[in-house]
Amino acid sequence: MAVVTNTSDNTKFTDEAEIRSCLSSFNIDYERWTPAHPLAEDASAEEVLHAYSKEIDALKSRGGYVTADVIDVNPATPGLEAMLSKFASEHWHDEDEVRFVIAGRGIFHIHGEAGVVAIEVGPGDLIRVPKGTMHWFNLCDDRRIRAIRLFQDVSGWTPHYSDSKVDQGYQPVCLGQSYYQT
Ligand SMILES: [Fe+2]
Repeated sequence: MAVVTNTSDNTKFTDEAEIRSCLSSFNIDYERWTPAHPLAEDASAEEVLHAYSKEIDALKSRGGYVTADVIDVNPATPGLEAMLSKFASEHWHDEDEVRFVIAGRGIFHIHGEAGVVAIEVGPGDLIRVPKGTMHWFNLCDDRRIRAIRLFQDVSGWTPHYSDSKVDQGYQPVCLGQSYYQT
């Protein structure tokens, strides 16, 4: 389950209904895909897409998404830090950013009229960041994520940077297991 932090008052949400309620005020959709389909750690992109084909098709028809692929990174991925730095500064896209996490964790920061909310996502979490929404993304310290991405138009998924530097005021600290142990 995701961990959502409303940074204006540091309120945290780990309950699905509460997460959805908090994120709706930022116009962010959140859902869980359960049950998860078993996949090997080294499953290919084709195997991942096949395992979740039913869920992907349902989402495509709901959101007008035409293609799906799998992003799979780990600390050994060549050029990883350069790739991550492209998304760690505040930006927006001309189409929705839709991610379903299979493995690993990361943090989306969403900058809306109500302030900034941090969404730590993990396996089973689906997030939809509507086009035009200011946001940035970081991986957790283990630098691992495997996620399904859906696109309305692949060419539309280019970052446009705000150059606001708002992102520099927020530490991308993953709470993960340590948060649940407290
Ligand atoms: Fe993005």
